[in-house]
Amino acid sequence: MKLFDVYKMLPLELSSGNGYHVYDTDGREYLDFYGGHAVISIGHRHPRFNAALKEQLDKIIYYSNAVEFSIRGRLAEKLGEVSGYTDYELFLCNSGAEANENALKLASFHTGKQKVVAFKGGFHGRTSAAVSITDNPKIQAPINKTGEVVIIEPENADALEEVLSEGEVCAVVIEGVRGIGGIYVPGVKFMKDVARLCRRYEAIFICDEIQSGYGRTGKFFAHQFSGVKPDLITTAKGMGNGYPIGGVLISPEFKASSGMLGTTFGGNPLACAAGLAVLEVLEEEKLVLNAMKMGDYLKSRLAEVPGITEVTGAGLMTGINFAGSAKEIQQALAEDEYVLVGSSSIPTQIRLLPPLTIDTAAIDRFISSLKNVVNASALKEA
Ligand SMILES: Cc1ncc(COP(=O)(O)O)c(C=O)c1O
Repeated sequence: MKLFDVYKMLPLELSSGNGYHVYDTDGREYLDFYGGHAVISIGHRHPRFNAALKEQLDKIIYYSNAVEFSIRGRLAEKLGEVSGYTDYELFLCNSGAEANENALKLASFHTGKQKVVAFKGGFHGRTSAAVSITDNPKIQAPINKTGEVVIIEPENADALEEVLSEGEVCAVVIEGVRGIGGIYVPGVKFMKDVARLCRRYEAIFICDEIQSGYGRTGKFFAHQFSGVKPDLITTAKGMGNGYPIGGVLISPEFKASSGMLGTTFGGNPLACAAGLAVLEVLEEEKLVLNAMKMGDYLKSRLAEVPGITEVTGAGLMTGINFAGSAKEIQQALAEDEYVLVGSSSIPTQIRLLPPLTIDTAAIDRFISSLKNVVNASALKEA
């Protein structure tokens, strides 16, 4: 049997990782400014993380949610403490799409309504409800198009109010910082408008922090730059530093009832050990602050690189726009400079999502590689 061929791949096979580096099967070192789709938060093979997983592995890795494991509660408590959402409750699942799926379900249960508002260029996952609110018809099968979804332009509070005022919307879903659709930080005023209008028209405000959360932007959750408090916050990716785990942070207005949500693997003790270790390392190594500082340093150094038309983002979640194809830059960085970066739906943008452990030495190396690549391309005159 062969693998179902659905992934576009970089021409490399990895064998190991360490900190902000990964190594291919020939032992070549790559600077990881992509974190494997924004997943690696505390760095590859972090000793504390590996020790926590090994310790749990030697005890028990799985039993269902029919039994208690104290580590689940400890993870929820720590997440509340580190994020500032001590009064929220946590539902654990396995991925980002699943987190959004459960958040949408909660919103619909709670309001009794079914229409959803999402935003242009937004990405929320590939399961049925999550993909139906994703602004990309190419990844929606006919079966995904049954829900009532209205996609509007970000920043357009009037359009949002017009839809909400019909009284049929159960949820408004927005990314803390848009990722795959091209890095874009929603304005503080607009985020406040979303919160205000959701309250006025009794819709649930869901903030998708799956890519932008866990400190990547310099705040634990990106929406915290706006001072808003969404009703539901979805998380995954950086939460497990590569171990699959996702979650929904749920405001105290929601009342749980037995069987309302559920999952076989969600909240398994090994995933919780990973999640807890990530939070402890983020806190002890002050990585959220580091993301803010390194993000500032990165932006100051990017000013020296020719060919860049715009730098967007917050903290270490950075989009770099060029006057031409970003794919060529991405490819040349990987093949000639051994630096991994991401792309986005904007064909001229590369996306940086490095581990939050990066330092000035890593950024200096990245800048020098980027200069080499741009200078060797036709983009340097832009
Ligand atoms: C903002 C956002 N939401 C949801 C998802 C879906 O997460 P997963 O691939 O873990 O299902 C992603 C994945 O890239 C994402 O970036």
